[in-house]
Amino acid sequence: MFTEKTTPQPLDATRIPAHVAIIMDGNGRWAKKRFLPRIAGHKQGMENVKVITKAASRLGVKVLTLYAFSTENWKRPDSEVNYLMGLPVDFFGVFMPELIAENVRVQVMGELDALPAKTRQAAEDAMAETAANTGMVLNFALNYGARDELVQATREIAQAAAAGTLDPATIDDTTVAAHLMTRHLGALADPDLLIRTSGENRLSNFLLWQIAYSELVFTPVFWPDFTPAVLTAAIADYQARDRRFGGIH
Ligand code: FPP
Repeated sequence: MFTEKTTPQPLDATRIPAHVAIIMDGNGRWAKKRFLPRIAGHKQGMENVKVITKAASRLGVKVLTLYAFSTENWKRPDSEVNYLMGLPVDFFGVFMPELIAENVRVQVMGELDALPAKTRQAAEDAMAETAANTGMVLNFALNYGARDELVQATREIAQAAAAGTLDPATIDDTTVAAHLMTRHLGALADPDLLIRTSGENRLSNFLLWQIAYSELVFTPVFWPDFTPAVLTAAIADYQARDRRFGGIH
């Protein structure tokens, strides 16, 4: 259990999780606690994305996947959805020079066609402007849902089988993985460590295929309060675990 009071932990630099995924939850409650509107929590959450991106990159994380907007988040009031859809525009508008200085490459995965034009444009510009960067991949899940992803993958695979270009008998794990939205991450598609903030112990339709063997860390800290020290503590906890991937030692 890691809280804001967590002290920095020593890490084994040779065993940093290559792919860290975070469900950034608790923005609304962070704001409520301060008698602020929910969008103030989202603004602070966006500011914290900058802090944690830099921290993860400097720790040696190779891929940082952040759940920014789910396929279910459209159910929120229009004003909140509109605000959330403006965040990538603000974020990339201000943070791009730092992302480039950090050698971070931006990827955005999800149903991008259904985003407002300005949000989609901001995502595409950010991917294009950082395409040559060779450091950490900052992988945003935006209008992403794992069931939707698996439905799309199934449809594509079924179409290939129906067209005769794929023999159903050859379908295996790699076939499925090659049709998921994380395919651009190659061998790093599966998170080593999945963190959820705000004390909720559920997965909320995030990366259901890819987390088959991920280590899970749940912290009560609201996302805007999630510091580099809490990230480090979560990684220290990960390093103390024995990952067997179904085997024995
Ligand atoms: C969940 O908290 C958070 C979200 C649905 C949005 C997350 C978005 C950000 C942290 C900013 C993203 C930044 C960029 C650059 C895209 P919640 O609103 O469900 O909180 P609650 O459960 O306390 O109400």
